Amino acid sequence: MREQVITGHGGPTRLAGRQAPDPEPGPGELRVRVAAVGVNFADVLARQGLYPGAPRPPFVPGYEASGTVDAVGPGVEASRIGSDVVALTRFGAYTDVLVVPSAQALPLPAGLTPEQGAALPVSYLTAWALLVVMGSLTAADTVVVHNAGGAAGLAQLDIAAHVGARVVGTASAWKHPFLRERGAAELIDPRAEDWVRRVRTLTDGHGAELITDPRGGRLWRESYRALRPTGRLGVYGVSSATARPGLPGPVRLVRAALGGPLLHPIALMNRNVGVFGVHLGRMWQETEKTLGWAERLLAGVGEAWVRPHVDRAFPLEQAAAAHAYLEARRNLGKVVLVP
Ligand SMILES: NC(=O)c1ccc[n+]([C@@H]2O[C@H](COP(=O)([O-])OP(=O)(O)OC[C@H]3O[C@@H](n4cnc5c(N)ncnc54)[C@H](OP(=O)(O)O)[C@@H]3O)[C@@H](O)[C@H]2O)c1
Repeated sequence: MREQVITGHGGPTRLAGRQAPDPEPGPGELRVRVAAVGVNFADVLARQGLYPGAPRPPFVPGYEASGTVDAVGPGVEASRIGSDVVALTRFGAYTDVLVVPSAQALPLPAGLTPEQGAALPVSYLTAWALLVVMGSLTAADTVVVHNAGGAAGLAQLDIAAHVGARVVGTASAWKHPFLRERGAAELIDPRAEDWVRRVRTLTDGHGAELITDPRGGRLWRESYRALRPTGRLGVYGVSSATARPGLPGPVRLVRAALGGPLLHPIALMNRNVGVFGVHLGRMWQETEKTLGWAERLLAGVGEAWVRPHVDRAFPLEQAAAAHAYLEARRNLGKVVLVP
Protein backbone atom coordinates (compact mmCIF):
# COMPACT_ATOMS: atom_id res chain seq x y z
CA MET A 1 0.00 0.00 0.00
CA ARG A 2 1.00 3.62 -0.56
CA GLU A 3 0.34 6.20 2.18
CA GLN A 4 0.99 9.85 2.88
CA VAL A 5 2.35 10.39 6.38
CA ILE A 6 2.55 13.51 8.55
CA THR A 7 6.16 13.19 9.69
CA GLY A 8 6.14 16.11 12.15
CA HIS A 9 4.34 19.37 12.91
CA GLY A 10 4.96 22.17 10.41
CA GLY A 11 4.38 23.18 6.78
CA PRO A 12 3.07 21.07 3.87
CA THR A 13 6.53 19.52 3.33
CA ARG A 14 5.89 17.53 6.52
CA LEU A 15 3.79 15.22 4.33
CA ALA A 16 5.82 12.36 2.85
CA GLY A 17 5.15 9.11 0.96
CA ARG A 18 5.57 5.69 2.57
CA GLN A 19 5.02 2.11 1.38
CA ALA A 20 3.80 -0.76 3.58
CA PRO A 21 2.33 -4.26 3.08
CA ASP A 22 -1.42 -4.27 2.37
CA PRO A 23 -3.39 -4.58 5.65
CA GLU A 24 -5.74 -7.54 6.21
CA PRO A 25 -9.26 -6.91 7.54
CA GLY A 26 -9.86 -8.25 11.06
CA PRO A 27 -13.16 -9.40 12.62
CA GLY A 28 -16.02 -7.06 11.63
CA GLU A 29 -13.82 -5.12 9.18
CA LEU A 30 -13.58 -4.78 5.43
CA ARG A 31 -10.86 -3.58 3.09
CA VAL A 32 -11.35 -0.87 0.48
CA ARG A 33 -9.27 -0.26 -2.66
CA VAL A 34 -9.42 3.51 -2.42
CA ALA A 35 -10.56 5.57 -5.42
CA ALA A 36 -10.60 9.01 -3.74
CA VAL A 37 -9.79 10.55 -0.35
CA GLY A 38 -11.47 13.65 1.11
CA VAL A 39 -9.08 16.37 2.35
CA ASN A 40 -10.35 18.36 5.32
CA PHE A 41 -9.10 21.55 6.94
CA ALA A 42 -8.73 19.43 10.08
CA ASP A 43 -5.90 17.55 8.30
CA VAL A 44 -4.11 20.88 7.80
CA LEU A 45 -4.63 21.76 11.48
CA ALA A 46 -3.33 18.32 12.54
CA ARG A 47 -0.23 18.78 10.39
CA GLN A 48 0.38 22.15 12.05
CA GLY A 49 0.00 20.67 15.54
CA LEU A 50 -3.26 22.58 16.03
CA TYR A 51 -5.62 19.63 16.34
CA PRO A 52 -5.78 18.35 19.92
CA GLY A 53 -7.36 14.96 19.05
CA ALA A 54 -4.73 13.99 16.46
CA PRO A 55 -2.11 11.28 17.09
CA ARG A 56 1.53 12.27 17.56
CA PRO A 57 3.51 12.20 14.29
CA PRO A 58 4.31 10.12 12.39
CA PHE A 59 0.72 9.27 11.46
CA VAL A 60 -1.48 8.96 8.38
CA PRO A 61 -4.18 11.66 8.37
CA GLY A 62 -7.62 11.57 6.75
CA TYR A 63 -11.17 10.76 7.80
CA GLU A 64 -12.97 9.73 4.62
CA ALA A 65 -12.54 7.85 1.38
CA SER A 66 -14.47 6.10 -1.36
CA GLY A 67 -13.56 2.95 -3.25
CA THR A 68 -14.36 -0.71 -3.85
CA VAL A 69 -14.43 -3.44 -1.20
CA ASP A 70 -11.91 -6.16 -2.09
CA ALA A 71 -11.78 -8.26 1.10
CA VAL A 72 -13.80 -8.82 4.26
CA GLY A 73 -12.83 -10.07 7.71
CA PRO A 74 -14.59 -12.72 9.83
CA GLY A 75 -18.23 -11.84 10.52
CA VAL A 76 -18.69 -9.63 7.45
CA GLU A 77 -20.80 -10.87 4.54
CA ALA A 78 -18.72 -11.90 1.54
CA SER A 79 -21.41 -10.36 -0.70
CA ARG A 80 -19.93 -6.95 0.16
CA ILE A 81 -16.85 -7.74 -1.92
CA GLY A 82 -17.00 -5.78 -5.17
CA SER A 83 -19.38 -3.11 -3.84
CA ASP A 84 -18.56 0.60 -4.11
CA VAL A 85 -18.59 2.40 -0.75
CA VAL A 86 -17.94 5.67 1.05
CA ALA A 87 -16.12 5.14 4.33
CA LEU A 88 -15.44 7.08 7.50
CA THR A 89 -12.23 6.38 9.39
CA ARG A 90 -10.54 7.76 12.48
CA PHE A 91 -7.37 8.92 10.67
CA GLY A 92 -5.53 6.79 8.10
CA ALA A 93 -7.44 7.72 4.93
CA TYR A 94 -4.46 9.13 2.95
CA THR A 95 -3.80 5.71 1.42
CA ASP A 96 -4.67 3.49 -1.52
CA VAL A 97 -5.79 0.57 0.71
CA LEU A 98 -7.98 1.22 3.73
CA VAL A 99 -9.36 -1.14 6.40
CA VAL A 100 -12.42 0.07 8.35
CA PRO A 101 -15.16 -1.43 10.57
CA SER A 102 -17.79 -2.65 8.11
CA ALA A 103 -20.50 -0.42 9.68
CA GLN A 104 -18.44 2.65 8.72
CA ALA A 105 -18.62 1.81 5.00
CA LEU A 106 -21.90 2.81 3.34
CA PRO A 107 -22.98 2.23 -0.27
CA LEU A 108 -21.78 4.87 -2.74
CA PRO A 109 -25.04 6.45 -3.91
CA ALA A 110 -25.94 5.95 -7.59
CA GLY A 111 -25.05 8.97 -9.68
CA LEU A 112 -22.03 10.05 -7.61
CA THR A 113 -18.46 9.75 -8.87
CA PRO A 114 -15.94 8.28 -6.39
CA GLU A 115 -14.52 11.82 -5.96
CA GLN A 116 -17.97 13.18 -5.04
CA GLY A 117 -18.43 10.21 -2.70
CA ALA A 118 -15.21 11.05 -0.86
CA ALA A 119 -16.39 14.66 -0.58
CA LEU A 120 -19.57 13.74 1.23
CA PRO A 121 -19.19 12.20 4.72
CA VAL A 122 -17.33 14.72 6.90
CA SER A 123 -18.65 17.93 5.33
CA TYR A 124 -22.29 16.87 5.11
CA LEU A 125 -22.44 15.14 8.50
CA THR A 126 -20.99 18.27 10.10
CA ALA A 127 -23.43 20.46 8.21
CA TRP A 128 -26.37 18.24 9.20
CA ALA A 129 -25.38 18.31 12.88
CA LEU A 130 -24.99 22.10 12.76
CA LEU A 131 -28.15 23.06 10.91
CA VAL A 132 -30.66 20.30 11.61
CA VAL A 133 -29.68 18.30 14.71
CA MET A 134 -28.44 21.12 16.95
CA GLY A 135 -29.32 24.28 15.01
CA SER A 136 -33.06 23.47 14.65
CA LEU A 137 -33.13 25.45 11.39
CA THR A 138 -36.58 26.20 9.97
CA ALA A 139 -37.86 27.74 6.74
CA ALA A 140 -38.65 30.96 8.61
CA ASP A 141 -35.01 31.45 9.67
CA THR A 142 -32.04 33.41 8.37
CA VAL A 143 -28.80 31.45 8.79
CA VAL A 144 -25.35 33.00 8.46
CA VAL A 145 -22.91 30.44 7.07
CA HIS A 146 -19.32 31.60 7.59
CA ASN A 147 -16.71 30.16 5.23
CA ALA A 148 -19.56 29.36 2.84
CA GLY A 149 -17.17 28.49 -0.01
CA GLY A 150 -15.47 25.70 1.92
CA ALA A 151 -16.56 22.09 1.70
CA ALA A 152 -18.51 22.23 4.98
CA GLY A 153 -19.94 25.61 3.92
CA LEU A 154 -21.26 24.34 0.58
CA ALA A 155 -22.80 21.33 2.33
CA GLN A 156 -24.64 23.77 4.63
CA LEU A 157 -25.94 25.67 1.59
CA ASP A 158 -27.47 22.44 0.24
CA ILE A 159 -29.09 21.55 3.56
CA ALA A 160 -30.36 25.09 4.22
CA ALA A 161 -31.95 25.13 0.75
CA HIS A 162 -33.58 21.77 1.52
CA VAL A 163 -34.98 23.20 4.77
CA GLY A 164 -36.08 26.37 2.95
CA ALA A 165 -34.13 28.85 5.12
CA ARG A 166 -32.55 32.08 3.87
CA VAL A 167 -28.75 31.89 3.71
CA VAL A 168 -26.35 34.77 4.23
CA GLY A 169 -22.91 33.43 3.31
CA THR A 170 -19.48 34.89 4.09
CA ALA A 171 -16.49 34.09 1.90
CA SER A 172 -13.73 35.71 -0.17
CA ALA A 173 -15.37 37.92 -2.82
CA TRP A 174 -14.27 35.89 -5.87
CA LYS A 175 -16.31 32.94 -4.53
CA HIS A 176 -19.60 34.90 -4.43
CA PRO A 177 -20.97 34.26 -7.97
CA PHE A 178 -20.68 30.50 -7.54
CA LEU A 179 -22.17 30.60 -4.04
CA ARG A 180 -25.13 32.57 -5.35
CA GLU A 181 -25.71 29.82 -7.92
CA ARG A 182 -25.56 27.30 -5.07
CA GLY A 183 -28.38 29.02 -3.20
CA ALA A 184 -26.92 31.78 -0.98
CA ALA A 185 -29.38 34.69 -0.99
CA GLU A 186 -26.84 37.24 0.30
CA LEU A 187 -23.05 37.21 0.34
CA ILE A 188 -20.49 39.17 2.33
CA ASP A 189 -16.70 39.32 2.18
CA PRO A 190 -16.00 39.56 5.93
CA ARG A 191 -12.46 40.80 5.37
CA ALA A 192 -13.71 43.75 3.31
CA GLU A 193 -16.97 44.69 5.05
CA ASP A 194 -18.54 44.99 8.52
CA TRP A 195 -20.57 41.79 8.19
CA VAL A 196 -22.39 42.18 11.55
CA ARG A 197 -23.80 45.54 10.45
CA ARG A 198 -24.81 44.07 7.08
CA VAL A 199 -26.63 41.14 8.74
CA ARG A 200 -28.49 43.62 10.96
CA THR A 201 -29.53 45.59 7.86
CA LEU A 202 -30.62 42.43 6.06
CA THR A 203 -32.76 41.34 9.04
CA ASP A 204 -34.40 44.72 9.79
CA GLY A 205 -32.18 45.15 12.82
CA HIS A 206 -33.04 41.79 14.42
CA GLY A 207 -29.98 39.60 13.73
CA ALA A 208 -29.85 35.99 12.55
CA GLU A 209 -31.65 32.96 14.01
CA LEU A 210 -28.64 30.71 13.37
CA ILE A 211 -24.94 31.42 12.76
CA THR A 212 -22.38 28.69 12.10
CA ASP A 213 -18.79 29.69 12.70
CA PRO A 214 -15.58 27.64 12.19
CA ARG A 215 -13.20 30.57 12.69
CA GLY A 216 -12.62 30.91 16.44
CA GLY A 217 -11.27 33.71 18.61
CA ARG A 218 -12.68 37.22 18.49
CA LEU A 219 -14.61 36.25 15.33
CA TRP A 220 -16.90 34.11 17.50
CA ARG A 221 -17.56 37.23 19.56
CA GLU A 222 -18.78 39.02 16.43
CA SER A 223 -21.08 36.12 15.60
CA TYR A 224 -22.49 36.09 19.11
CA ARG A 225 -23.33 39.81 18.76
CA ALA A 226 -25.15 39.18 15.47
CA LEU A 227 -27.72 36.75 16.96
CA ARG A 228 -31.41 37.56 17.12
CA PRO A 229 -33.24 36.76 20.38
CA THR A 230 -33.91 32.97 20.25
CA GLY A 231 -30.86 32.71 17.96
CA ARG A 232 -28.23 29.96 18.14
CA LEU A 233 -24.49 30.15 17.49
CA GLY A 234 -22.92 26.85 16.38
CA VAL A 235 -19.11 26.80 16.67
CA TYR A 236 -17.22 24.03 14.90
CA GLY A 237 -13.64 25.06 14.18
CA VAL A 238 -10.73 27.38 14.92
CA SER A 239 -9.35 28.14 11.46
CA SER A 240 -8.13 31.54 12.72
CA ALA A 241 -5.49 29.61 14.72
CA THR A 242 -3.62 28.99 11.44
CA ALA A 243 -2.68 32.69 11.45
CA ARG A 244 0.50 33.76 13.35
CA PRO A 245 2.63 30.79 12.22
CA GLY A 246 5.54 32.11 14.32
CA LEU A 247 3.83 31.10 17.58
CA PRO A 248 3.84 27.51 18.93
CA GLY A 249 0.67 25.49 18.18
CA PRO A 250 -0.70 25.36 21.76
CA VAL A 251 -0.29 29.17 22.14
CA ARG A 252 -2.18 29.75 18.89
CA LEU A 253 -4.96 27.41 20.04
CA VAL A 254 -5.28 29.15 23.40
CA ARG A 255 -5.44 32.56 21.69
CA ALA A 256 -8.15 31.29 19.33
CA ALA A 257 -10.12 29.85 22.24
CA LEU A 258 -9.75 32.77 24.67
CA GLY A 259 -10.77 35.42 22.16
CA GLY A 260 -14.35 34.06 22.12
CA PRO A 261 -17.32 35.50 23.98
CA LEU A 262 -17.47 35.12 27.76
CA LEU A 263 -20.55 32.97 28.25
CA HIS A 264 -22.32 32.93 31.54
CA PRO A 265 -25.65 31.04 31.65
CA ILE A 266 -27.30 34.18 33.02
CA ALA A 267 -26.08 36.18 30.02
CA LEU A 268 -27.50 33.54 27.67
CA MET A 269 -30.79 33.65 29.53
CA ASN A 270 -30.98 37.43 29.47
CA ARG A 271 -30.28 37.54 25.74
CA ASN A 272 -32.49 34.54 24.86
CA VAL A 273 -29.70 32.95 22.83
CA GLY A 274 -27.88 29.62 22.77
CA VAL A 275 -24.34 28.56 21.91
CA PHE A 276 -23.44 25.01 20.92
CA GLY A 277 -20.48 23.15 19.49
CA VAL A 278 -20.14 20.40 16.88
CA HIS A 279 -17.04 18.21 16.64
CA LEU A 280 -17.53 15.18 14.43
CA GLY A 281 -14.11 13.85 15.48
CA ARG A 282 -15.51 13.36 18.98
CA MET A 283 -18.59 11.41 17.91
CA TRP A 284 -16.93 7.98 17.52
CA GLN A 285 -18.79 6.63 20.58
CA GLU A 286 -22.06 7.65 18.87
CA THR A 287 -21.64 6.04 15.44
CA GLU A 288 -25.23 4.75 15.51
CA LYS A 289 -26.40 8.37 15.59
CA THR A 290 -24.01 9.62 12.89
CA LEU A 291 -24.72 6.64 10.63
CA GLY A 292 -28.43 7.46 10.92
CA TRP A 293 -27.67 11.00 9.72
CA ALA A 294 -25.50 9.54 6.93
CA GLU A 295 -28.35 7.36 5.68
CA ARG A 296 -30.58 10.42 5.46
CA LEU A 297 -27.88 12.33 3.55
CA LEU A 298 -27.16 9.46 1.15
CA ALA A 299 -30.90 9.34 0.41
CA GLY A 300 -30.64 13.10 -0.24
CA VAL A 301 -28.35 12.36 -3.18
CA GLY A 302 -31.20 10.45 -4.86
CA GLU A 303 -33.58 13.28 -3.98
CA ALA A 304 -31.11 15.70 -5.63
CA TRP A 305 -30.63 18.08 -2.68
CA VAL A 306 -27.24 16.67 -1.60
CA ARG A 307 -24.77 17.76 -4.29
CA PRO A 308 -21.13 17.37 -3.15
CA HIS A 309 -18.98 19.75 -5.15
CA VAL A 310 -15.38 18.70 -5.88
CA ASP A 311 -13.19 21.67 -6.60
CA ARG A 312 -10.00 19.84 -7.46
CA ALA A 313 -8.40 16.40 -7.36
CA PHE A 314 -4.70 15.98 -6.64
CA PRO A 315 -2.73 12.72 -6.98
CA LEU A 316 -2.23 11.09 -3.55
CA GLU A 317 1.51 11.74 -3.84
CA GLN A 318 0.75 15.49 -4.08
CA ALA A 319 -1.00 15.71 -0.70
CA ALA A 320 1.40 18.52 0.28
CA ALA A 321 0.24 20.59 -2.72
CA ALA A 322 -3.39 19.90 -1.77
CA HIS A 323 -2.75 21.22 1.75
CA ALA A 324 -0.98 24.32 0.41
CA TYR A 325 -3.96 24.94 -1.91
CA LEU A 326 -6.42 24.90 1.03
CA GLU A 327 -4.18 27.09 3.18
CA ALA A 328 -3.91 29.65 0.37
CA ARG A 329 -7.76 29.86 0.41
CA ARG A 330 -7.87 28.81 -3.24
CA ASN A 331 -10.48 26.06 -2.90
CA LEU A 332 -14.15 26.46 -3.67
CA GLY A 333 -15.64 23.23 -2.35
CA LYS A 334 -13.91 19.96 -1.65
CA VAL A 335 -10.35 18.97 -2.44
CA VAL A 336 -9.72 15.24 -2.89
CA LEU A 337 -6.69 12.99 -3.40
CA VAL A 338 -6.69 10.24 -6.00
CA PRO A 339 -4.31 7.27 -5.43
N1 LIG B 1 -16.06 20.36 14.04
C1 LIG B 1 -16.15 19.53 13.01
O1 LIG B 1 -16.61 18.41 13.15
C2 LIG B 1 -15.71 20.02 11.66
C3 LIG B 1 -15.91 19.25 10.51
C4 LIG B 1 -15.55 19.77 9.27
C5 LIG B 1 -14.94 21.03 9.21
N2 LIG B 1 -14.70 21.71 10.35
C6 LIG B 1 -14.05 23.03 10.33
O2 LIG B 1 -14.68 23.81 9.35
C7 LIG B 1 -13.75 24.68 8.74
C8 LIG B 1 -13.82 24.43 7.24
O3 LIG B 1 -13.35 23.12 6.98
P1 LIG B 1 -13.38 22.51 5.53
O4 LIG B 1 -12.74 21.16 5.62
O5 LIG B 1 -14.74 22.63 4.97
O6 LIG B 1 -12.30 23.42 4.76
P2 LIG B 1 -12.55 24.44 3.61
O7 LIG B 1 -13.44 25.45 4.17
O8 LIG B 1 -12.97 23.66 2.42
O9 LIG B 1 -11.15 25.10 3.23
C9 LIG B 1 -10.54 26.23 3.71
C10 LIG B 1 -11.26 27.57 3.48
O10 LIG B 1 -11.38 28.17 4.77
C11 LIG B 1 -11.36 29.59 4.67
N3 LIG B 1 -10.47 30.08 5.72
C12 LIG B 1 -10.89 30.76 6.79
N4 LIG B 1 -9.87 31.06 7.56
C13 LIG B 1 -8.75 30.59 6.99
C14 LIG B 1 -7.39 30.59 7.32
N5 LIG B 1 -6.95 31.18 8.45
N6 LIG B 1 -6.51 29.99 6.50
C15 LIG B 1 -6.93 29.39 5.38
N7 LIG B 1 -8.24 29.34 5.02
C16 LIG B 1 -9.14 29.93 5.81
C17 LIG B 1 -10.94 29.93 3.25
O11 LIG B 1 -12.09 30.42 2.58
P3 LIG B 1 -12.36 32.03 2.44
O12 LIG B 1 -11.17 32.59 1.74
O13 LIG B 1 -13.59 32.08 1.64
O14 LIG B 1 -12.53 32.56 3.84
C18 LIG B 1 -10.48 28.59 2.67
O15 LIG B 1 -10.73 28.47 1.30
C19 LIG B 1 -12.39 24.37 9.39
O16 LIG B 1 -12.18 25.25 10.46
C20 LIG B 1 -12.59 22.96 9.92
O17 LIG B 1 -11.74 22.64 10.99
C21 LIG B 1 -15.06 21.24 11.56
